[in-house]
Amino acid sequence: MDGPPTERFARCIAASRRVRWDVETDVIRGRRFDLANKFLPDGLTLANTLPFLAPEEKRYFSQVQGRTYANMFGLVERFINAKVLELSRDHWFGDQTALEALIRCSEEELKHQALFRRVEALIGEAMPAGYSFLWNPNDVAAVVLGKRSWAGLALTLHIELFTQAHFRESIRQDAELSELVRDVFRFHWREECQHAIMDELEWRRLDAATTPKARDLAVDELIELLGAVDSIVTGQASADSRYFIATCGRQFDATVAEAVQQTMLAAYRLQYIFSGAQHPHFAAALASMTTEAQLGRIQAALSALAPMPMLNAA
Ligand SMILES: [Fe+2]
Ligand SMILES: [Fe+2]
Repeated sequence: MDGPPTERFARCIAASRRVRWDVETDVIRGRRFDLANKFLPDGLTLANTLPFLAPEEKRYFSQVQGRTYANMFGLVERFINAKVLELSRDHWFGDQTALEALIRCSEEELKHQALFRRVEALIGEAMPAGYSFLWNPNDVAAVVLGKRSWAGLALTLHIELFTQAHFRESIRQDAELSELVRDVFRFHWREECQHAIMDELEWRRLDAATTPKARDLAVDELIELLGAVDSIVTGQASADSRYFIATCGRQFDATVAEAVQQTMLAAYRLQYIFSGAQHPHFAAALASMTTEAQLGRIQAALSALAPMPMLNAA
């Protein structure tokens, strides 16, 4: 989708109007989460790499990760919305189409936060006590908003593109995957497509006004932000694997417990870092705005998080 930014923002507004949905009447529709189903697709949970888990244990492994998925999106959408509102200021007395598109995006992200809070509460009703999500969305937002917008927008584009990769995983054939989960992925994806276009427009607008020195500092900040995401998922993988082991109904020896934790961490790195960083569109946009040396620094930071799991080709 090419053309001047105003035209592209106008097409985002038109698409946003066309796909608009409601949390209760379109997505939830009076349904509940059923523990007979998986809450995340196998391609994202890596459950199939744990051969010692019985099928019902793999299903439970996906349910714990599905609950964290709802919490993680509630978290990232807090700072994404604040960043979008902050950027909208640049358009107050300028491009009113861009302003309208960003305001719609903000309103959608508020709705998505409400959706994911609803999903977390519904999953919480169905699952045993003892789960905890360790991170406060406002604390994380303060870290992201404390960096240059160039870095914050790069992180945001990477997230909004990985929701598209996750949607593709959710539509693979799997009779055990919850229909409600499929709908959450599908409805979220329909609005995120526009967001990713707007993130890139805004990122390129800022990039054009960024000096080489400032961009070099922003690249370091992006690396710091990816490191912060890694700290978040590392802590959460520890908490979630302890919860999984304590509540899954049998004893695990230390070696097996360690494999569960490492797989949970690999799955979260896949979901929240690599499925965005490896997204072809993100990789191309990043490469077009950085030097080879800067790109090399980012790639080195990502490789340090190895072993790097990959999503299967669509
Ligand atoms: Fe969203
Ligand atoms: Fe979004």
